[in-house]
Amino acid sequence: MKMFEIVAKDVMGRIAKLETPHGKVETPALMPVVNPNIEIIPARELKRFGAQIVITNSYIIYRTPELREEALKRGVHGLLGVDIPVMTDSGSYQLMVYGDVEVSNEEILRFQIDIGSDIIVPLDVPTPPDADYDTAKSDLEVTLEREREAVKMDRGKRLLALPIQGSTHADLRRKSAEEVVKLGADLYPIGGVVPLMDTYRFYDLVRIVLEVKSVLPSNAPVHLFGAGHPMVFALAVALGCDLFDSAAYALYAKDGRYLTPYGTKKLEELQYFPCSCPVCLEHTPEEIRRMDEEDRTRLLAEHNLWISFEELKRIKQAIKENNLFEFVECRIRSHPNLLFAWRQIREYRTLLELFDPSMKHSFLYTGIESCYRPAVLRHHERVLNVELPDKEEIVISSDEGHPADFYLRPCFGVVPVEMLESYPAGHAEIPPSELLEDEALKIAVEGLKKFLKHHSERKFVVIVNGKWKKFVKDLPENAVIRNAGEEGWGSENLQN
Ligand code: GUN
Ligand code: ZN
Repeated sequence: MKMFEIVAKDVMGRIAKLETPHGKVETPALMPVVNPNIEIIPARELKRFGAQIVITNSYIIYRTPELREEALKRGVHGLLGVDIPVMTDSGSYQLMVYGDVEVSNEEILRFQIDIGSDIIVPLDVPTPPDADYDTAKSDLEVTLEREREAVKMDRGKRLLALPIQGSTHADLRRKSAEEVVKLGADLYPIGGVVPLMDTYRFYDLVRIVLEVKSVLPSNAPVHLFGAGHPMVFALAVALGCDLFDSAAYALYAKDGRYLTPYGTKKLEELQYFPCSCPVCLEHTPEEIRRMDEEDRTRLLAEHNLWISFEELKRIKQAIKENNLFEFVECRIRSHPNLLFAWRQIREYRTLLELFDPSMKHSFLYTGIESCYRPAVLRHHERVLNVELPDKEEIVISSDEGHPADFYLRPCFGVVPVEMLESYPAGHAEIPPSELLEDEALKIAVEGLKKFLKHHSERKFVVIVNGKWKKFVKDLPENAVIRNAGEEGWGSENLQN
């Protein structure tokens, strides 16, 4: 595997350096798609927007005689007029859309090598979502056969990407990932997901990414094929995707659509531009509406690119600050399908724990998803190892004005006095329990029960106030529950 050096991490995301024959690329990276036949924005100008690498389709070049000749003579970099790395796709997308391509796997791989591509891709078969199991399985066998062919070829220093397919079948996705890991790729694209993104099926998208990540080694670079809409970048990076390719900036522009990190707007419906990129600073929506189609498309495409690279910079900064959870939890509120898709991390806690750094500066609660962060579960585990004071009855109180050995806090559950000021439980900004979603209290009580059961030989008094009374119930036999007010020194000032 070629060099992929991880320099910062948060959630399952990372900032890394991917080495290619044309230099290093900092990931997460967005590769604008260049169509050499219709360049809405010429490839040589893409660096200005922040592109460090571009992607183009070798099949389009291959079957267009003038382009093919030029690419063979001057290389793909010469053809596009760029000096940054170029990834080439194989025509698989055409295979999916038109059902057929007029080139063999070996021919298109050989061609990508001959034109000097930095990252080459075999002719994988992108099986659409919901394909029946047998179709997905036999497509995958074809893909794997072609990938075996690819690893046998002498490709020099260039990187080999081996796409992962399997439609919406979790076991086939895992199988596909296992097989390409055995073959050994330099880059692992997750393919066949464009139709999911086009229809906002983020639930299935997240599932596929998590299943694949469960199999891939943690230091394997991952490309999410066809993900070009900035509204999915934060979520995808947080799940461990490192590269994206965007045709969306151009396709949406042609259709009069304006991208934002929280969704798509129609140019027709905009009175104001919610953006300060050069395009939006210098024009009003009305001015752009009055332009001819070519100028309008070009300016919309420029805005779409600015905003896409800007979003990636926000994400990278969030990784550096270790607040990517907070950032993703904000972005997923742009669409209910994103919100419910992200909540699946709850079922993949052990996977997330492997990646997410255990030390951070802060924990801001933004909603019930915050309870699913590894920091919460880790605290539940860690508190089990805390030594208990040597006394008959140990006091756990949800009322922090009450003297106790342990306190009960939302999400985190049991917090020893000595951890009241340290990360995560002590650094957590969480609204008062009276104002909080029930979920955050229920999860705390799950932690409490685990703690009490762990110490079944000891006796506890659990003092509850306010809303906690509703949730602290049915505790194991070694605990008695008392209401804070009944003891005379409780402070229930949040009630009423
Ligand atoms: N572009 C978008 N999706 C895919 C895919 O699954 N495979 C390849 N090779 N290219 C793609
Ligand atoms: Zn703009």
